[in-house]
Amino acid sequence: MKIGILDSGVGGLSVMREIHQLLPGIPIHYVGDSSWCPYGNKSAEVINRRVFQITDHLIERGATLIVIACNSATIHSVGPLRDAYLLPIVGMEPGIKPAAQKTKSGVVGVLATEASIQGEKFHQLVDDHAKGVKVITRPCPSFVSLVEAGTLDGPEAEGAVREAVDPLLDAGADVLVLGCTHYPFLGGVIQSSLPSGVSIVDTGIAVAKRVQSFIPQDSSSDSEATIDIETTGSLDQLRRILPSLLPDLAVNTASCSL
Ligand code: DGL
Repeated sequence: MKIGILDSGVGGLSVMREIHQLLPGIPIHYVGDSSWCPYGNKSAEVINRRVFQITDHLIERGATLIVIACNSATIHSVGPLRDAYLLPIVGMEPGIKPAAQKTKSGVVGVLATEASIQGEKFHQLVDDHAKGVKVITRPCPSFVSLVEAGTLDGPEAEGAVREAVDPLLDAGADVLVLGCTHYPFLGGVIQSSLPSGVSIVDTGIAVAKRVQSFIPQDSSSDSEATIDIETTGSLDQLRRILPSLLPDLAVNTASCSL
């Protein structure tokens, strides 16, 4: 078994760390498409093309299961990808369902990319799982830039978070959905901007459990498996920010020329 993971950049590492924590014995190959980041302002067609190219690359390198650790890419590409490949494809979507079950005020705030919010699948999710709940969406492109730059706290991050979160709180939201895999890296700042009684929904752990359900029990080993992280962007930049994104995790890094 080898788990292939992709995202528009380093955001999907927030999902990768949950997968590794649950399945430390399974090798992981991650591709961050930082040279095309953000996906949030790209068309479905562009996102699809990149996702197919990266998936082919991961399969060539031995991946036996693909995780689309990107809400924007899942919303636009998970269907076509499942139609085209036989191996298991695990995607992720903003946690509208758990948020709708959790809210007491009846108002849920969704932080996600423009590409996700505009996707048909997103509207379907709201229609299917949030009947009678007011769902307010908020794109936060600055969060993605901050995380790609390795700025996970400090005044700039705090300002960006306030600007995104305050209107949702003012509208009565008592549950905030982190609908983009970059956002959990700002989780500390987001959490400290919230009054008590307001909670966060992040689907990273649920995705890791879904991945686990595809792994035969006998394929896991006691030793730590290797984690290879490739970037289509700057390798120096990736190496500079990795210690803050994944402290205490030993990984191999390389460039990917896709
Ligand atoms: N991390 C991605 C997501 O979950 C996309 C961020 C971006 O590239 O705009 O949607």
